Order: sequence, then structure tokens, then C-alpha cells
Amino acid sequence: MAEENDLRSNIIVSAVGLVKEFRDFWNKPKAKAVNDLDFEVREGEVIGLLGPNGSGKSTTVKMLLGLLYPTAGRLTVFGKSPRDVDTKRLIGYLPEESYMYKYLTAYETLDFFGSLFNLSALERRKRAEQLLEMVGLSHAKNRPVGEFSKGMTRRIGLAQAMINDPSLLILDEPTSGLDPLGCREVKDLIHLLKKRGKTVIVTSHLLSDIEDVCDRVIILYGGKIRAQGTLNELLTIEGTDRITTPQLKPEVMEKVLDILRANLADDSFRVDHPRMSLEEFFLDVVNKAQAESVETYGARSGGQIADYLSHGSEEEDQARMELLQSLAGPEEKKVEEKTPEVVAPVVDAAKLETLSDDMLKTKKAEEKSADSKPAEDYSEANKKLQDMLSGLSDKKD
Ligand SMILES: Nc1ncnc2c1ncn2[C@@H]1O[C@H](COP(=O)(O)OP(=O)(O)OP(=O)(O)O)[C@@H](O)[C@H]1O
Ligand SMILES: [Mg+2]
Repeated sequence: MAEENDLRSNIIVSAVGLVKEFRDFWNKPKAKAVNDLDFEVREGEVIGLLGPNGSGKSTTVKMLLGLLYPTAGRLTVFGKSPRDVDTKRLIGYLPEESYMYKYLTAYETLDFFGSLFNLSALERRKRAEQLLEMVGLSHAKNRPVGEFSKGMTRRIGLAQAMINDPSLLILDEPTSGLDPLGCREVKDLIHLLKKRGKTVIVTSHLLSDIEDVCDRVIILYGGKIRAQGTLNELLTIEGTDRITTPQLKPEVMEKVLDILRANLADDSFRVDHPRMSLEEFFLDVVNKAQAESVETYGARSGGQIADYLSHGSEEEDQARMELLQSLAGPEEKKVEEKTPEVVAPVVDAAKLETLSDDMLKTKKAEEKSADSKPAEDYSEANKKLQDMLSGLSDKKD
């Protein structure tokens, strides 16, 4: 019985017969974005939700976040409804498109999101500084995020998703817009988060981007699960063997080939040279250039981050984990153990609106003086932020 309970408490997400149908104005079915999904995510797993464009990944993610209501089926996150406030407190979310106040600096952005989770000013500063360091944006912390490149916007989005020390991170296309170095860093970061006991759900249509970080993948097509399992289960080609050796001397190779020919049909084996992936080659080239201190503006921040996150010795991992630990606050292994420091997000609509109003007023004042941006630009950003946070303020979709 106890074992059964342990097993159950270990399940972070459970979806049974999950369906999401979008309807048009006349309530006629428009698209069955998600069609009868059954899956589970366990504590500490990194799950890849893969599928081509329009296969239902983002729709699934939005249901997990309580931003969309399932049309049918049962969905629990941490054993509760995705709309439960206690559930939201435990989740960090990187949206497919980052909705940021473009006039806030990187530092202010993190400070703002920290305030939504009721973190003290001291805690906000500590976490913001460390997160900026972690995602390689320390040098740009005082620049407005509206000026950021796509990759930089993705990075600040990732930092924002981690500000509340979530137990479950949901990252929708985290590598989109990142260069190969940035992709590597995101993968390393996911790896570190996993080591810290976090559960990560990551979506992508770029398979190689997340292949080496996922424990399990779920492959969607047309809103249905077409395959799911560990990478070994899915990718091992049955009925074949591969032997990799140092380069063989010609006479040794001849002997091996003689044995193979004597035992196998001529065309049923092949000899080739293993090659590295393009990603490995690219990173090798960049790392060498960095080692030689070749001047490049673009790679500067990436270089810092690669140094911080990419290498894998035990001691370095330990040091990074300690930094993550200090960033994340007290260890939060079990869902039931509530961390006193991280108070449930006080994202009551009133506070959110006050914050938004304040920002709106400040912005309007700025606009008047600078006369640079039309007012509707800002209200759209404001609406997007409201939309994004609508899950936190528990509004209906
Ligand atoms: N709000 C909506 N109204 C109507 N249809 C929608 C809505 N959101 C999604 N869809 C439809 O649901 C299907 C799945 O969309 P979804 O955004 O979940 O795909 P995705 O797998 O995330 O794709 P991508 O890789 O392009 O991000 C698509 O056919 C899409 O047009
Ligand atoms: Mg999507």
C-alpha cells in the first residue's frame, strides 16, 4: 500500500483520454488539436514532446498550465487540476513566444516576475543576478528586452521560467532562435535541472535539438500519440550489431573481412568510419576559436555561458549544482514538502492589475516625453502579458 502511494506521488503529470477541440463562432468543430492522449510524466524525468508543426504540442502544454480547458479526458498535474493555485506555484513556463514588456530591462523583467511570486527584494536581486549569469545575459542586464535579439529573448524567457524555483519546468520550443552554442547551453541547463531533481517537459520539432537530454519522448502527429518510450526503446535498430575499433591495419582488416564473408552473405555487412555530428564539429570549431581568443562580438556572452554550463567534470558539476542550489533555495524533493520561503504566487488579479496599471502609467509618461512609440503598441504588450499570466490569475480561457 505504502509502495503504491509512493508510486502515485511520483507521478507529476497524468493525462487520460485527453482531447482538445477548437470550435468556431457557431460552435462547429474547427480543429481537433489534441485527440485522445494518454501519458504520464514522473518526477525527475525529462520528457520530449515532439511532433511536426500543428501536431498539438503547444495545445497540450497550455492544458498542462491550465490556460486551456480540455474538451474531454482527465488531466492532473501534481495530483491536482492544472488550474489549482498550488499547482501553478510549482511550475515554470517558457512560452513558445516570449511575451515581455519590451521597455523593461533584463534585470527589471526578472525582478517583475519575482515580485509576482512575492519574493523579497533581496531574494529577487539574488535570483535575478544569478539567473542572468546563468543564461549569459549579465552584460546586457540593463538593456531593455525590446532591443534583444531572438536568442537573447529566449534566454531571458528561460531565466524568467526559473525565477520561482519550479519543480516542473515546461519549455515550449526552448531552442528556437538559438544558435548551436545556445542550443548546447539549453541542453546542458536541462541536464543540470534534472540533476537537481526537477521534472522537465520540453517540446520541439527539431529532434536533434533535444535528443540527447530526453529520458523519454512522446511523438505526436495530428494530435495523437504515434510513439512513446525511451530513446533506446525507440531508436535501437533491432537485428543489427556495430563494432567500433581503432583503425585496423590492412592485414587485420582482411582477416576480419574473411571471417565475415565466410559467415554472412556478401552484401549484408558494411565497413565505414564513424563520424561526429555536425553539432559536435561546430562546437569544436567554436571552442578552438574561443581558446585562441579570436575576437567576436556575438559569441562573447555565449562563451561565458559555455564555460559555466557546458563542461562535465564531477567537480564542476558539483560547483554548478551548488550555484543552482543557492539560486533555487532549499531543496524541494517531494511535492508535499512545501518550502516556506516560496510563498504561493500572490498573483491575485488585483495585484497584477495594479502592477500593470503602474507600468502602463510609467510607460505612457515615457511615451509622452519620448514621443517614440504609438500607445497601442504598449497596450498590446500589456494584453499579452495579461494573457500569459491569465493562468496564474486563474482566469478562464
Ligand atoms: N486557438 C486556436 N484556435 C483554433 N485552432 C487552434 C488554436 N490553437 C491551435 N489550434 C490548432 O490546433 C492544432 C495544433 O496546434 P498547436 O499549436 O498545438 O501545434 P504545435 O504542435 O505546437 O505546432 P508548432 O510546432 O507549429 O508550434 C493546429 O491545427 C492549430 O491550427
Ligand atoms: Mg507549438
